[in-house]
Amino acid sequence: MAPSLRVGLTGGIGSGKSMVADMLAELGAEVVDTDVIAHALTSAHGEAIAPIRAAFGDAVLDREDALDRAAMRRLVFADEQARRRLEAILHPLILRQSLQRMHAARSPYVVVVVPLLAEHLHAYRSHLDRIAVVDCEETEQLRRTALRPGMDLDQARAILAAQSKRDERLAIADDVIENFGDLSALRGSVTRLHATYLRFAAERAQKKLDLPLH
Ligand SMILES: Nc1ncnc2c1ncn2[C@@H]1O[C@H](COP(=O)(O)OP(=O)(O)OP(=O)(O)O)[C@@H](O)[C@H]1O
Ligand SMILES: [Mg+2]
Repeated sequence: MAPSLRVGLTGGIGSGKSMVADMLAELGAEVVDTDVIAHALTSAHGEAIAPIRAAFGDAVLDREDALDRAAMRRLVFADEQARRRLEAILHPLILRQSLQRMHAARSPYVVVVVPLLAEHLHAYRSHLDRIAVVDCEETEQLRRTALRPGMDLDQARAILAAQSKRDERLAIADDVIENFGDLSALRGSVTRLHATYLRFAAERAQKKLDLPLH
């Protein structure tokens, strides 16, 4: 049976989404990661390659026929129209695959990680029962993000500035995971949230079973 509870997990760059998702997965939740799906769609033979070629030509593909990420980044950075066209190709494919995988999950609740959920809420809201937001201070987001390979503080600042603001994310949250402390504090919060979701999932499954059988 498909999970009775669907949780969208989001948070700003470097907030700790992947860490929280890993912890929930260890506790037994199935996790669908939209970044992984987007990457697969734009790899060699990925479903997005043909429409991307039709829209942008071969210049944005590499020799293996995968998306040339650096070339595409340059293009969409300079051309807002191009960014919209790329998103119009990718987003419906990402959403469709995410929903398929969520439906195929067999855990009591399923988690879908959507980094830009606040920006794309209209597409996801009706498919989600709860929205969990990982929250931390912007200074901490910047510090963690700047440590990434190939990143520096200026790039981290630019990405942060382009995303929804912290209060815009918090405004859509049903559940807030405060990632202000060390990893063991985070694990404690995540374990409590997992217990809550199991309870919600059991209650929803029960309600469905209580429906008259006709
Ligand atoms: N409470 C914490 N204590 C120490 N390190 C942490 C904590 N939370 C996250 N980190 C580390 O900070 C970095 C960013 O965390 P993570 O990758 O989970 O963030 P993210 O929200 O998935 O980022 P992105 O938006 O780039 O995908 C990682 O290296 C992670 O191990
Ligand atoms: Mg991540």
